[in-house]
Amino acid sequence: MDESVEHLRDEILERIGRCASESEVEQLRVDALGRKGQLTQLLRGLKELPAEDRPKVGEQLNQFRRLAEERIEQRLVSLKAEARARMLSGEKVDITLPGSRWERGRIHPLTLAMDEIIDIFLGMGFEVARGPDIEDDYHNFEALNMPKDHPARDMQDTFFVSQNRVLRTHTSPVQIRTMERRKPPLQVIAPGAVYRHDDDATHSPMFHQVEGFMVDRRITFADLKGVLTHFLRQVFREDAGVRFRPSFFPFTEPSAEVDIACVICGGKSSTSNQSSCRVCKGSGWLEILGAGMIDPEVFRFVGYDPEKVSGFAFGMGVERIAMLKFGIEDIRMFFQNDLRFLRQFR
Ligand code: PHE
Repeated sequence: MDESVEHLRDEILERIGRCASESEVEQLRVDALGRKGQLTQLLRGLKELPAEDRPKVGEQLNQFRRLAEERIEQRLVSLKAEARARMLSGEKVDITLPGSRWERGRIHPLTLAMDEIIDIFLGMGFEVARGPDIEDDYHNFEALNMPKDHPARDMQDTFFVSQNRVLRTHTSPVQIRTMERRKPPLQVIAPGAVYRHDDDATHSPMFHQVEGFMVDRRITFADLKGVLTHFLRQVFREDAGVRFRPSFFPFTEPSAEVDIACVICGGKSSTSNQSSCRVCKGSGWLEILGAGMIDPEVFRFVGYDPEKVSGFAFGMGVERIAMLKFGIEDIRMFFQNDLRFLRQFR
């Protein structure tokens, strides 16, 4: 075979081997076998050769062309197979891997406790009222029988917004706002956020209270005891011990603090001195509510006649109840939004 033909054949076969894509192979097919391809040119040049050489050279060139066509086809087939293999491995799905879940939201433990508290009072015929978080001095203090220089104001570490405005330190101002607008009979609870300048494992600068009050003719302390005892036995346990202790609030007279038998040690800590309960500090009781009969002074502020109506009021901390119900030791956990904490509640 002519040396230049042999050279061209080697070059083309080698190029076929190097083609890395189908389009490169197609380009090569055009370059070599197309109408103006190198091999086609050679075949055209045959007529220039002496007649006796034509059959032999022609035969060689035809063999060369068949070989090139064959190699091109093979290369295409293997490139297709490689491309498919690459695609399959790229799209490979490991069906043994765990699936990714859509996590369902949970209800915040404080909302759970709040909803439960509200439900119990709705069941006893109370309605829900709300008041503003930013209160004026009059509703937060004055009308609750805490005059400007009264030492009782000291108990409530107040955040002042301005001279005359505060972040409410309790939900009791909702008593005043409700009574200002309406006449007895009233049977109302007022849930909401309250604010005090205090921050440790059992105090948060923002926390929640549920206020409750009932005003009508001839409401007595017995009504207060009945409502609160029923409430506490619903949130905690049916047989929970309940205790009323004399106390003082400027806006109730008489006043009481209400305790339940410790939900952790069952009140046993007070009778056995071997082990002292962490939660009730060995007293056997947990303070849970402030309450009392609405002070006649408060009725005068809202224009009620204390000779004609009487009523009781109470206030409780929602975080404290939730902590006792769920066994939470640090109030700050409610507000850190740690999912590991929040996921535990349904
Ligand atoms: N407002 C009081 C407090 O926050 C609680 C309370 C409410 C006490 C109603 C008596 C009657 O401490």
